[in-house]
Amino acid sequence: MSVAKKDYKIVTTKSLFDMKQNGEKISMLTAYDYTMAKIVDSAGVDVILVGDSASNVMAGHETTLPITLDQMIYHASCVVRGVERALVVVDLPFGTYQSDSKKALESAIRVMKESGAHALKLEGGKEIKEGIKKILGAGVPVMGHLGLTPQSIYKFGTYTVRAKEEAEAIKLIEDAKMLEKIGCFAIVLEKIPAKLAEQIAKEVSIPIIGIGAGGGVDGQVLVVHDMIGMTHEFSPKFLRRYMNLYEDMTNAIGQYVEDVKSKDFPNASEQY
Ligand code: KIV
Repeated sequence: MSVAKKDYKIVTTKSLFDMKQNGEKISMLTAYDYTMAKIVDSAGVDVILVGDSASNVMAGHETTLPITLDQMIYHASCVVRGVERALVVVDLPFGTYQSDSKKALESAIRVMKESGAHALKLEGGKEIKEGIKKILGAGVPVMGHLGLTPQSIYKFGTYTVRAKEEAEAIKLIEDAKMLEKIGCFAIVLEKIPAKLAEQIAKEVSIPIIGIGAGGGVDGQVLVVHDMIGMTHEFSPKFLRRYMNLYEDMTNAIGQYVEDVKSKDFPNASEQY
């Protein structure tokens, strides 16, 4: 299939649908702050996800569960200020949408009003169908997230590949079709077998964005700090590191410490 590449001045949910139709793969990365968002946007990434992975990457928590709605709104508003082209999608954090659809809508409205983001992402399938419908009914675009859903880590017990068994694969396909039917504009599939992800991408009309879900889907997402090697403890098979910033930054900062201690910095031209 030919890969048509059309330039989108501003990326909308409709652009993503067109990209799928045209066989153009969708690029998506996380960002949690203004400076990173500006770099990611300038580099031409189509979708910027203000992921609740900020809980791990920014705050140092072991899971995504502790991050709050206020904290997500803060991160999202910083990102929005740095973006000119990309579609900005924000994760609704754990505990802000699962209990009932009214609460889901209230959380959604707060993020949209207070951050200026363009869309939301929610983890789960039929269990949260009513909440998603309510949010969609208010005119807010929703991206689904199935497979390994980190907000349910204590139910799964581990971060291993999901939907290897037939029953879970069948439920995943049903959930993806349900999300398409009720009006979600895209779905993230995390850490599932590549064949299953490819099958789902073929069977639904909305874009499927994978992370650890192989190359047969419509786009890819990574956590930017992992992809540029700022984090170094986390090395799953699906992660391609494009830089080793942890090492480069540690060396640069070590050099600065040495220069200060040795009185090499500042020199005559670095003062007034
Ligand atoms: O929070 C996040 O960064 C995510 C991606 C891993 C898809 O949900």
